[in-house]
Amino acid sequence: MQDLFVEQLRDVYNAENQIIKALPKMVKSASSEELRDALEEHLEQTKGQSERLEEIFEELQLKARGTKCVGMEGVIDEGKELLSEDFQDSVMDAAIIAAAQKVEHYEIATYGTLRTWARRLGHERVAELLQETLDEEAQADEKLTQIAESMVNEEAVQTSR
Ligand SMILES: [Fe+2]
Repeated sequence: MQDLFVEQLRDVYNAENQIIKALPKMVKSASSEELRDALEEHLEQTKGQSERLEEIFEELQLKARGTKCVGMEGVIDEGKELLSEDFQDSVMDAAIIAAAQKVEHYEIATYGTLRTWARRLGHERVAELLQETLDEEAQADEKLTQIAESMVNEEAVQTSR
């Protein structure tokens, strides 16, 4: 169980670092200022989450090392495909939100599992750190939902005119 736990920690460490690379491209392609701000904020948060994982490795007396997370790579690749499409601005923003929420949900699933396993393995401090990240991911997801909803409302107003 401990081995599986460590393997999954290495996986999510790599996933966070993939996200750090991918987010600036999403920011560049976004038109809504609110969306750009949210993505930029989450980029900073993600850097903190990567550092938090380094703290977790230290806590477990392990070297901070990632192993390629193929799942996150797939989610990000799909997002990149959308970015290369020729959408009008508001459609591109909707596509970016969809891609970002897929990333968040993948992370929420992962961190929820890891937090539970940490508790089960008796790593209380690690469980707390994982919970902090889990809460941040959930908030980021919620923020994206809010932005998506406000955009839908805006468009409804425009089309009704
Ligand atoms: Fe994250």
